[in-house]
Amino acid sequence: MSYLSGFGNDVATEAVTGALPRGQNSPQRVPFGLYAEQLSGTAFTAPRKENRRSWLYRLRPSAEHPPFAPRAQGLVRSGPFDEVPPSPNRLRWSPPELPETAQDFVDGLVTIAGNGDAAAFAGIGVHMYLATRSMVDRVFFDADGELLIVPQAGALRLVTELGVLDLTPGEIGVVPRGVRFRAELPDGRAVGYVCENYGALFRLPELGPIGANGLANSRDFLTPVAAFEDSSRPTEVVQKFQGKLWSTTLGHSPLDVVAWHGNLAPYKYDLRLFNTIGTVSFDHPDPSIFTVLTSPSEVPGTANCDFVIFPPRWMVAERTFRPPWFHRNVMSELMGLVHGVYDAKAGGFAPGGASLHNCMSGHGPDKTSYERAISAELGPHKIEDTLAFMFESRWVIRPTRFAMESPTLQSDYDACWASFEKAQLPGAQAQSQEKA
Ligand SMILES: [Fe+2]
Repeated sequence: MSYLSGFGNDVATEAVTGALPRGQNSPQRVPFGLYAEQLSGTAFTAPRKENRRSWLYRLRPSAEHPPFAPRAQGLVRSGPFDEVPPSPNRLRWSPPELPETAQDFVDGLVTIAGNGDAAAFAGIGVHMYLATRSMVDRVFFDADGELLIVPQAGALRLVTELGVLDLTPGEIGVVPRGVRFRAELPDGRAVGYVCENYGALFRLPELGPIGANGLANSRDFLTPVAAFEDSSRPTEVVQKFQGKLWSTTLGHSPLDVVAWHGNLAPYKYDLRLFNTIGTVSFDHPDPSIFTVLTSPSEVPGTANCDFVIFPPRWMVAERTFRPPWFHRNVMSELMGLVHGVYDAKAGGFAPGGASLHNCMSGHGPDKTSYERAISAELGPHKIEDTLAFMFESRWVIRPTRFAMESPTLQSDYDACWASFEKAQLPGAQAQSQEKA
């Protein structure tokens, strides 16, 4: 397996020597009779620093396909998310059970929440995949957005048009809008989270005064080299378009790109390489310091979606309440847990589960975590074996009917904040306030 290093780089790769045209994109005759095709991820006229596109050289043009027909929708939903009214309550889900039946990545895709509108190129869909078999003679692509995939259990091999991405829990993968792929399961089963980004492409956040290095470093993002298959087996192509699933069948595999160049491609990143930055004095910074990737909206600093992680890290803050503080935010937060324990919750938030704290809902440490934190000895302390993450969005994240009616929705989540003791003012003041 071989990858090219760097985020969003312009790269050139060929699986067969001489397949890539030199010096131009669209020669009169492409080497070996390959077909040239441009795949754009931004408008042709997007500014240079935003512009993402690649040129693909393939065995057959992808234009060659029969009509797509509507296909069973399963539990895949899309923006606008209006099946049920959004609840102002704090919500938390236990991990879902893997089904007994055989289902692949596409059949095992379940939408739990989202916001915005795929048609407006704004917002996100949040899904989980519960897969018990590899996709066979089937590929998938999403015309509604790019897919940020967060494996939670089991490895995932994404065989894409532009090469192969091998993912294990602790890593993430991103597949651009429109890129076809087959998800294979080296471990026979796989569970994870998907952020379907309808909006502006994910990119590295600005670093401001942090400087030229830090957080997720560009060189650690890996793009696959060209790899193709020359197969005449009938292959179903499933696409998600405007929220609905459609399908058609080709007489060959469309994963037949022999060479490509450009800066729009799948990529992966090992979250263990995140250069976590925190306080070395007092108070902890806003959790935006843990942003791995961001999809900006048109309002500066106000993300369509931030992908944020809470990895292992040293806590050294003096005279400080160290877990995440209580807060009510304008941004909405959907969290998941890959492994371990999240430092604001002593129980109930399990790997593979999820929680949702929407705009202005008060949340923070549970009672147990709070009590521990205010009496803890404040020596250097390392939070180990943990990987929580958050999809944070400027728009309220609306659960699907499935999520709201799921038996995994916890009915007692509020209880973790129910038994805090009232603060005690000094005697005289407290009495006079009570009388007034
Ligand atoms: Fe929060």
